[in-house]
Amino acid sequence: MAKMWAGVTDGKTEKVADEFNSSIKVDSKMYSQDVKGSIAHAMMLGHKNIISKAEAETLIVNLQAILEDIENGSLKIDYTEEDIHMFIERVLTERVGEVGKKLHTARSRNDQVALDFRMYLRDGVETLIKKLVLLITVITDKAEEYKDVIMPGYTHLQRAQPITFGHHLLSYAMMFLRDRERLTENLKRINVSPIGSCALAGTTYETDREYEAEQLGFNSICLNSIDGVSDRDFAVEFASNVAIIMMHLSRFCEEIILWSSWEFKFIKLSDSFTTGSSIMPQKKNPDMAELIRGKTGRVYGNLMGILTVLKGLPLAYNKDMQEDKEGIFDSLETVNACLNVFTPMLKEMQAIKENMKKKAQEGFINATDLADYLVKKGMPFRSAYKISGQIVAECIKKGTILENVKIEDYKKFSPLFDDDVYEQISLETCVNKRISQGGTSVASVEHQIDYVKGQIK
Ligand code: ARG
Repeated sequence: MAKMWAGVTDGKTEKVADEFNSSIKVDSKMYSQDVKGSIAHAMMLGHKNIISKAEAETLIVNLQAILEDIENGSLKIDYTEEDIHMFIERVLTERVGEVGKKLHTARSRNDQVALDFRMYLRDGVETLIKKLVLLITVITDKAEEYKDVIMPGYTHLQRAQPITFGHHLLSYAMMFLRDRERLTENLKRINVSPIGSCALAGTTYETDREYEAEQLGFNSICLNSIDGVSDRDFAVEFASNVAIIMMHLSRFCEEIILWSSWEFKFIKLSDSFTTGSSIMPQKKNPDMAELIRGKTGRVYGNLMGILTVLKGLPLAYNKDMQEDKEGIFDSLETVNACLNVFTPMLKEMQAIKENMKKKAQEGFINATDLADYLVKKGMPFRSAYKISGQIVAECIKKGTILENVKIEDYKKFSPLFDDDVYEQISLETCVNKRISQGGTSVASVEHQIDYVKGQIK
């Protein structure tokens, strides 16, 4: 195929070099952004009389037709092309003749590719934000459903204090809210138009960059043409934001995997989101959750990948930058795929309340409250802490729990103990006394639910 850029070189490259150089397998994903960008460019060229209005019209109508033809399958992308930009320009020129060659006036593939990439990510981030909101809604509904279901809260994976399952779930809603906020911020910096930066130095034509940016829904333009074609920090930021979302999903998945194990049995995953084993008939495996946890590694890698591609690149465009898209597209597709399965899996997940309660009762997780009981009766905390610890040790020796220690036995440790101790150390009391903002009491959790709902409505 003759090279559009054949000039000082004859463009007769080796097949192996062509294949190596080509990025169309990756960047063809941006075909619609590329066509839309070209339509806006043709509009601007016509608007500024750089080409005639009739010429602009021909370009626009035919670009529109190309988009439709790709979409309805009648125009197949030629994967032997160098990239999607070359492919579309070639098809356009084949269809309209000489005037097709005018489209590339006052632009370069350097600003064109930066434009397409930003438009692609803008679309991607908008969809991703919607998916996060859906996930947050599901979490909030679950939190509401389980707002008074008591479970052990853990530190060091050791039972620590009683909490409600609703409280625990809602902590993830807060994380995903911040993820959404980060993406919204990211969007502001993605939505800046580089087109018109041209190769790097701008152009001698009297273009109207703002007009062109407006046609494409951008908020503003890159104010330095070298920056416009050189940086990909918006994509690095995106890779980082997605890595953080995956980190949150992965932690959530890890807990779901633990909770669904025989050792915990805190939750039941729906059969529609688990698999069986080919040899062990008793198995119900949380594959979806494990895969999400596993895919997180690749998404982290994509962040490191783009940072490393850019590190040490002199300004302005370098061909290295063609390597910017593959990992970013992969991160976007992976996080979408993960959310597509995680959200409905969570929706169908059921808590096994009895087991949560049972484990909460076994773990002496009211020992802090037992100490607080003595403190409220006047004992210094350190002394109360010690006595509570001695009682726990005694219980472990006798194989019993704090709730079942007789009042006579309590009194042996301190005369401050009275019958009201049982009420004070009941798990329900322990939970519902924690009324501090953000705490685990039903009232506090209800406040948190209201907050989250307010954020996503
Ligand atoms: N395929 C290239 C990329 O993705 C397009 C830009 C090419 N520019 C150039 N000067 N060779 O980066």
